[in-house]
Amino acid sequence: MSKIEGQVALVTGANRGMGRAFVNGLLARGAAKVYAGARNTEALADLVAEAGGRVVAIKLDVTKAEDVASAAATARDVSVLINNAGTAGFSGFVNPDAVELGRSEMDTNYFGPIRVSQAFAPVLKNNGGGAIINIGSIASHINFPVLGTYSASKAAVHSLTQGLRAELAGQGTSVIGVYPGPVDTDMAAQFDSDKTAPQEIVRQVLDALDSGQEEVFPDPVSSQVYGQFLSDPAATAKYIGQTYLPG
Ligand SMILES: NC(=O)c1ccc[n+]([C@@H]2O[C@H](COP(=O)([O-])OP(=O)(O)OC[C@H]3O[C@@H](n4cnc5c(N)ncnc54)[C@H](OP(=O)(O)O)[C@@H]3O)[C@@H](O)[C@H]2O)c1
Repeated sequence: MSKIEGQVALVTGANRGMGRAFVNGLLARGAAKVYAGARNTEALADLVAEAGGRVVAIKLDVTKAEDVASAAATARDVSVLINNAGTAGFSGFVNPDAVELGRSEMDTNYFGPIRVSQAFAPVLKNNGGGAIINIGSIASHINFPVLGTYSASKAAVHSLTQGLRAELAGQGTSVIGVYPGPVDTDMAAQFDSDKTAPQEIVRQVLDALDSGQEEVFPDPVSSQVYGQFLSDPAATAKYIGQTYLPG
């Protein structure tokens, strides 16, 4: 039996892409309830309608402190938090818009999970510890210049994951870092490479939650690139840097 059976989860960015796949994956493994967070809750109508009361739509823009506070006040029974919402501009650092774009990516991808994790840490504690799952990227470990500023925001997510893991260990909250390669969602639409289906990423992540694995490289590209990175970090970063230059 999956540990997810009977649990209550919150997924940010649940209306499309990987977030939507997380909602469906959690339901399939027997979650009692899933709070589906989205900036526009109308985009969740079909998920709610199909779930027979097990999906609750919640307005949650992770850049808005008032949305985060209201979500934590409403969803007091959460034991699994999935920080999935994310945004990617396609910019290197020399682009004149890089500071503005980087700030916006940081606000969603890094400060967003900080806001949500802060608000939900006491909720998770009250519900026995539970888990936080942070969706990083293989770009958390190696900068992809075509996604330069995004990679920096995802590197920050990796550091956040390590710090939260240490801070929340005492209350029994496990903190899982997920570092996918290309996934077949809107975000990667302009990439021509092999992409993994979001449902497969979700399967790997929920298996990791069940088995207690804390670092997840959920697809062939991420596990291969991370393996190369571990054996030769400088050469791997150089190869990726030369291969994925901004257009
Ligand atoms: N696709 C990939 O290749 C890939 C690879 C590695 C990691 N990831 C990461 O995986 C996660 C999911 O991405 P995806 O591939 O599913 O991308 P996606 O299809 O573009 O979906 C992104 C989701 O995040 C939501 N979102 C964006 N800004 C938000 C905000 N301020 N507050 C709340 N929700 C917000 C979007 O909502 P709206 O509909 O309102 O915009 C959407 O639901 C992200 O963290 C991404 O960085 C993706």
